[in-house]
Amino acid sequence: MMEATGQTGQNSGISLARPLPQLRHLLGLQDLSRQDLLAILDLSADMKAVNARRIKKLPTLRGVTVLTLFVENSTRTRMSFELAAKRLSADTMSFTASTSALSKGETLLDTARNLEAMGPDIVVIRHSCSGAPQFLAQRIGCGIVNAGDGAHEHPTQGLLDVLTMREKLGDLAGKKVAIIGDIRHSRVARSNLFALATLGAEVHVAGPATLLPTGIEQLGCIAHPRVEAALEGADVVMMLRIQRERQGNDFFPNAHEYHRFFGLDQERLRLAKPHALVMHPGPMNRGVEISPEVADGPQSVILQQVENGVAVRMAVLYLVALSRGLQQAA
Ligand code: NCD
Repeated sequence: MMEATGQTGQNSGISLARPLPQLRHLLGLQDLSRQDLLAILDLSADMKAVNARRIKKLPTLRGVTVLTLFVENSTRTRMSFELAAKRLSADTMSFTASTSALSKGETLLDTARNLEAMGPDIVVIRHSCSGAPQFLAQRIGCGIVNAGDGAHEHPTQGLLDVLTMREKLGDLAGKKVAIIGDIRHSRVARSNLFALATLGAEVHVAGPATLLPTGIEQLGCIAHPRVEAALEGADVVMMLRIQRERQGNDFFPNAHEYHRFFGLDQERLRLAKPHALVMHPGPMNRGVEISPEVADGPQSVILQQVENGVAVRMAVLYLVALSRGLQQAA
């Protein structure tokens, strides 16, 4: 067994079977190797065990400052990054677009440079523009973690989703995963597609034809215009919200009709395997993409996804700090 260096080792209970990936930034899952993905998932499982202790805290990131820079709304992702940073004893600063000088016309780069002058080590950024995290990674000296950029990637969501699947199903090679809904505007779908392709799962996507981008198969999935074909024999059913904030109103007639043709209710869920996992990244629109009976039913792992989000973000912050030489020496 190889162990992590510094304080995260014997005392912390964090041990690793694989070498740790170099992760100076986490911008997306597209370029992560299978070995790196598995190492992050294993580290996340160790972090989850820390979260189950009476004292849910490690001293690992003492003296490291994590800035959460959210230029787009968030509940789960932001709280979970802040909690993850605190569980590792980092200091946190948090930025909200609506109460900041961004609303007075300051550019993202000027805001980021000013915040950088205060000395954060890691910046967790969410932005409505695809590429905003990459843009900052090239221009400021901090480690950048992408917390969702436009319709591009949401890497920690992808990681927490595959962690949840792996916990329940074991090796994901050959498992059938159905991702249903607004594929076109979903960064969650893209990050999942990259990770699941790397781990050898068979991914099927379905949604209204207007919300299935042409060429999506090039990301390693099979696309269906009818939801039933994607659900047939699936091990995992992941439902996505309609991203109204990223589209006009002309992609489908109305929410009622959407639910009739694409919503997951108990009857449709019966097309999947008997114990298929039901997942959703949140926020859910009950009665639109998912019925309340299914969202709250025995197959739903939606709240386990949220729980796993904290562990995954602890692992990512830890790896970014370690890769940048920020982790405290023992
Ligand atoms: C997702 C997001 O923001 O991309 N939510 C999340 O991070 N949990 C999905 C969504 O907003 O529908």
